[in-house]
Amino acid sequence: MAKWSGIVAVVSLTVFLMSVTAATVLPIHPYLKVEDTFISQLYDTSNYGFLQIDNGLARTPQMGWSTWNFFACNINETVIKETADALISTGLASLGYTYVNIDDCWSRSTRNLKGEMIPDPKTFPSGIKALADYVHSKGLKLGVYSDAGIFTCQVRPGSLFQEKNDAELWASWGVDYLKYDNCYNLGLPPQKRYPPMRDALNDTGRTIFYALCEWGIDDPAEWAGKIGNSWRTTDDINDTWISMTTIADINNKWASYAGPGGWNDPDMLEVGNGGMNYHEYKGHFSIWALMKAPLIIGCDVRNITADTLKILSNKEVIAVDQDPLGVQGRRVYASGPDGCQQVWAGPLSRNRLAMVLWNRCSKAATITANWSAIGLEPSISVSMRDLWKHEVVSENTVGSFSARVNAHGCEMYILTPRRSTRSSI
Ligand SMILES: *[C@@H]1O[C@H](CO)[C@@H](O)[C@H](O)[C@H]1NC(C)=O
Ligand SMILES: *[C@@H]1O[C@H](CO)[C@@H](O)[C@H](O)[C@H]1NC(C)=O
Ligand SMILES: *[C@@H]1O[C@H](CO)[C@@H](O)[C@H](O)[C@H]1NC(C)=O
Ligand SMILES: *[C@@H]1O[C@H](CO)[C@@H](O)[C@H](O)[C@H]1NC(C)=O
Ligand SMILES: *[C@@H]1O[C@H](CO)[C@@H](O)[C@H](O)[C@H]1NC(C)=O
Repeated sequence: MAKWSGIVAVVSLTVFLMSVTAATVLPIHPYLKVEDTFISQLYDTSNYGFLQIDNGLARTPQMGWSTWNFFACNINETVIKETADALISTGLASLGYTYVNIDDCWSRSTRNLKGEMIPDPKTFPSGIKALADYVHSKGLKLGVYSDAGIFTCQVRPGSLFQEKNDAELWASWGVDYLKYDNCYNLGLPPQKRYPPMRDALNDTGRTIFYALCEWGIDDPAEWAGKIGNSWRTTDDINDTWISMTTIADINNKWASYAGPGGWNDPDMLEVGNGGMNYHEYKGHFSIWALMKAPLIIGCDVRNITADTLKILSNKEVIAVDQDPLGVQGRRVYASGPDGCQQVWAGPLSRNRLAMVLWNRCSKAATITANWSAIGLEPSISVSMRDLWKHEVVSENTVGSFSARVNAHGCEMYILTPRRSTRSSI
């Protein structure tokens, strides 16, 4: 670090954070052809970890389950408890899915005379504190939902201008996570509406994950890192191939802003909800993991199928999402009709690369990843591990790698460079 010593504090902090990133991926970066602009921007981490909120959370993307994608407003305390039980019995909890998040509709439509939010007495008669106690007794964490506006999207009370009291109430219940939505926001800019809740949560003294849901309207990647632990980059996902792929592409644009402490959020998983086939869901999960997205399950875990469980519990894919380096992978190459044969890749800790060959064409295709397209020097030899077959498929691949990929399917690998052919770096 001696060579950085004369640089002003703020700049040297930036440089330090960047150099930590660069140092960790060093054996990959020297192989980048820096004279080629496209290649040198491949794994741009210029905004990595720079602005992130300092509440100790989100060192890796959050994992858990949320009510919204499957149940929408049809929720009650029984479903939450049964899902907590199912997360344990399926083994999903022990793989890291620990947040049990109640989305919109937990609160009664009106506050009480003291101005407090109260749980809907019909659907949550025992209250949220009892639910938090139950979930905590299972070793899990509880999330609630509110809105940086005067109402939630389902017209329950919002928290705009009531941040402090609401945060204190949730903390007193033992809440661990807040998803904070964007409806009925009076047209006020999000940069004014989201920070007060960060401060209110912090003032409670309870460590509460803060997930911004601003729908990507004002490019939150550029300003939300110092406000929340994750920020939605897009409109809501729905259970269709077009929605999932559109959202992946938008989230991809913000890759350089993700890092430990704050993540781009392309919305919750639809895996298992029935609107896509097995190959499509496998691609959805693989790309979300490569993009360091929050992995929030959105199906009915109490009634999960073997195929859905197989996807959601792939430990090797989860490990890519949860890799401590925390650099968001991205699309690095596309060919074929409308660019539908795609290569996505990103650096991992211990000098490895994760790579997804994603076939977005409607026919099976052979997709080739050329080393120069994924940032490797052509002479580098790598060992390739297939994360869906759970085996090493090649000990010594040089120059490029090709695989046949199903229509709307993907294959996913970890590439571990063998000893460099260069004598020194
Ligand atoms: C609770 O919600 C679930 C899922 O929507 C529903 O199947 C069940 O009937 C509800 N239970 C009660 C008591 O309302
Ligand atoms: C509150 O913010 C400070 C400063 O960022 C941080 O050190 C502290 O851990 C935060 N506390 C909680 C409870 O989030
Ligand atoms: C699902 O998302 C797609 C793509 O964003 C959108 O065109 C479509 O209208 C959405 N469908 C529903 C039912 O919301
Ligand atoms: C369970 O899932 C199957 C499809 O996988 C569906 O047909 C069935 O209705 C579901 N049962 C309940 C109680 O939701
Ligand atoms: C990889 O890309 C380079 C540069 O574009 C090209 O010269 C080379 O032929 C490609 N190799 C393969 C195996 O496609």
